[in-house]
This record gives sequence, structure tokens and C-alpha cells, in this order.
Amino acid sequence: MTILGLSGSLRKGSYNTAALRAAQELLPQGVTLEIFDLAPIPLYNEDIEPFPPEVRTLRERIAQSDALLIATPEYNHSISGVLKNALDWASCAPNPPCEHKPVAIFGASTGRFGTLRAQLHLREICAALDMLVLPKPELFIAQAREKFDAQGRLVDPQTRERLRALLEALVTWTQRFKS
Ligand SMILES: Cc1cc2nc3c(=O)[nH]c(=O)nc-3n(C[C@H](O)[C@H](O)[C@H](O)COP(=O)(O)O)c2cc1C
Repeated sequence: MTILGLSGSLRKGSYNTAALRAAQELLPQGVTLEIFDLAPIPLYNEDIEPFPPEVRTLRERIAQSDALLIATPEYNHSISGVLKNALDWASCAPNPPCEHKPVAIFGASTGRFGTLRAQLHLREICAALDMLVLPKPELFIAQAREKFDAQGRLVDPQTRERLRALLEALVTWTQRFKS
């Protein structure tokens, strides 16, 4: 099973990207997780046709993966423009690759709520895209500065276990939709 990881933050020291790296260490056997870099994705513009090569690559990688794992930061109580932009490109016809794609969402923030509000918005967006959003478990990594070390390693044992449980649930969820 192949999972594609998307981080809504482009910064080098991103806790969300670091959480995806941690997820790569916690996968069930036989599962791979590729982290897709959203930095080269241009801003969405309906006038741009055909899709730029970076967007084609994103759409292909989504289509080829069995499931998505989205790590969202919280910006002003919502998801980042970077993530929304990528999902907008991915939502376009023909053959929107997100349609009926299993997805687990989680996120890390330096605040107290651990991206709770951003994740609620992201769930609505995923529903608009006809994605199959894993209902549970939820994972809110609050006060991220205390959960990662200076090298960006997820060192909080409880959070590591919760992330492992999320990955296991995503794999079971994805298997339900495989014929
Ligand atoms: C423009 C902006 C808005 C933010 N708004 C929120 C917010 O609404 N809630 C929150 O918990 N953190 C907020 N933060 C802090 C982020 O949680 C913090 O920058 C976090 O590290 C971003 O994720 P990253 O480490 O993956 O880049 C905001 C940060 C920025 C730059």
C-alpha cells in the first residue's frame, strides 16, 4: 500500500512536515509513505491550460497512491493557502484524482488546540472533493515546540503512539474500499 503525504507548510523547520517524517518511521509493515513537496506548485489560475508540469506530477502522484495523509498547519483558524491551493488544483476535471481517495488528516500547531479548527475546515473541503475522510482517531498535536526536538524529530512518546494508531486506522480504512 502506498500513501502520499502532503504538508500544508513549506518552511524548512515545519512541525507538520516533521510529523510526516515521523509517520514514515511508524508505518505498518508493507506500507510506504512518500512526502510530496508542495513548494513548486503555482497559484491556481483557471486561465492556465494545460496543467503546468508540477501540477500534473501532483495529480499523478495522488492518482497512483492508495491513500493520502495530510498534515495541516493552522493559519488564522483555517488551513494554509498552500494546502488549499494544492487541493484546488487536484479538484479540477478531468478525472479529479482526489475523488473517492481515502485520506487521514492531522496537524501540528504551536497553539493550544493543535489545529482543531483547521482540521474541521479541512474535513469540509475533503467532503467537497468527494474524498473518503477517516473519521477517527483524530490527532491534534498542540504546543508542537514541546513535542519535537531541535532536529525536528517527534520525541513525545504519546504523540508517536497516536500517530502510529492513526496510520494503522488509515490502512484498515483504505483496505475497506479496495475491491
Ligand atoms: C499566518 C499564521 C497564522 C497562524 N494562526 C494560527 C492559528 O490560528 N492557530 C494556531 O494554533 N497557530 C497559528 N499559527 C501558528 C502556527 O501553529 C505555527 O506557526 C506552526 O508552527 C505552523 O506549522 P508549521 O510548523 O508546520 O509551519 C499561525 C502562524 C502563522 C504564520
